[in-house]
Amino acid sequence: MNTFIATLPKAELHVHLIGTLEPRLFLKLAKRNNIQTAYSTLENIKSALQKFDSLDSFLDVYYQVAQVVQTEQDFYDITLAYLKKAAKQRVLHAEFFFEAQTYMQWGITFETIITGITDAIKDAYKKYGISAMPILCFLRNLSEEYALEVLKASLPFKDDIVAIGLASHEKDNPPSKFVGLFTQAKKHGYKLCAHAGEDVGPDYIWQAIKLLHVDRIDHGVRCLEDKDLVAYLQKTYLPLTVCPLSNMRLNIFNKKNYPILQLMNEDLNISINSDDPAFFGGYINENYAEAHKMDLSRDQLVQCARNSINSSFASLEQKERMIHKLEKWLQYH
Ligand code: HPA
Ligand code: ZN
Repeated sequence: MNTFIATLPKAELHVHLIGTLEPRLFLKLAKRNNIQTAYSTLENIKSALQKFDSLDSFLDVYYQVAQVVQTEQDFYDITLAYLKKAAKQRVLHAEFFFEAQTYMQWGITFETIITGITDAIKDAYKKYGISAMPILCFLRNLSEEYALEVLKASLPFKDDIVAIGLASHEKDNPPSKFVGLFTQAKKHGYKLCAHAGEDVGPDYIWQAIKLLHVDRIDHGVRCLEDKDLVAYLQKTYLPLTVCPLSNMRLNIFNKKNYPILQLMNEDLNISINSDDPAFFGGYINENYAEAHKMDLSRDQLVQCARNSINSSFASLEQKERMIHKLEKWLQYH
């Protein structure tokens, strides 16, 4: 890895906890919990990872993989493994999604999930110096009514959760379905994120902005299809958390027409992220490297890192400390 990218101080704002579950840990958890899955060997897993070619076909594999994660210890182990890896890639601060509904449908309690995650966050800070905040991510293919129940279950733990998010099957599940959820979440002090402009175009990005009043758009790459939307995003500098390897792997764009340079040249507030690194062939630095291959200059990569810190939900003081680290690093690079 290019040392410039490897040592560049950065934040990660768009990564799913289950998306970081590496095949070896997956097999270990399947064994520990005595769960039979469709993927019983490393070879099975590797071939499953080659098979999907769209968001929907990827999600089928993703939910199969999620089945092996059941106990507080499992959530602890995955979170710690991801944060260790991220710290090695010079991520100073990570905000990651956990999809509580996936597990609660199987009878696992909110408390089990969040306790494993928050214990690992504390230990990762002590061991690796990385700070982290979990985002409670809702599944948009399920009902708003169920989402509201889960939001309620999260409230005793709200001081440990920074934001809510919205992910999963995008087509036919518009942001407009979740106006009540986002209104309630905001009242309880959560920041707001939503996946939009990945599998569906600008209409869903507009809905996330106008109806859900989000603080960040996850992906958002298809904003370029609408000039007025680009102008709005330039004016407001609303953050877009872009995930190049994910978008190419899921055929949102192909390698030849991936618009990261265009997004940057339009002066949009983009950051570079990994989404589901164990599935898409690369963590955050591999995504930075891909952006560099697609002609983002060093200055533009630094701008993405600066954007990632400024667009995070860390406190002002914490952001200033991270920006200071970045500026200091720049003196030597
Ligand atoms: N999009 C939507 N839902 C997801 C994704 C994604 O890229 N990854 C995990 N859940
Ligand atoms: Zn995502």
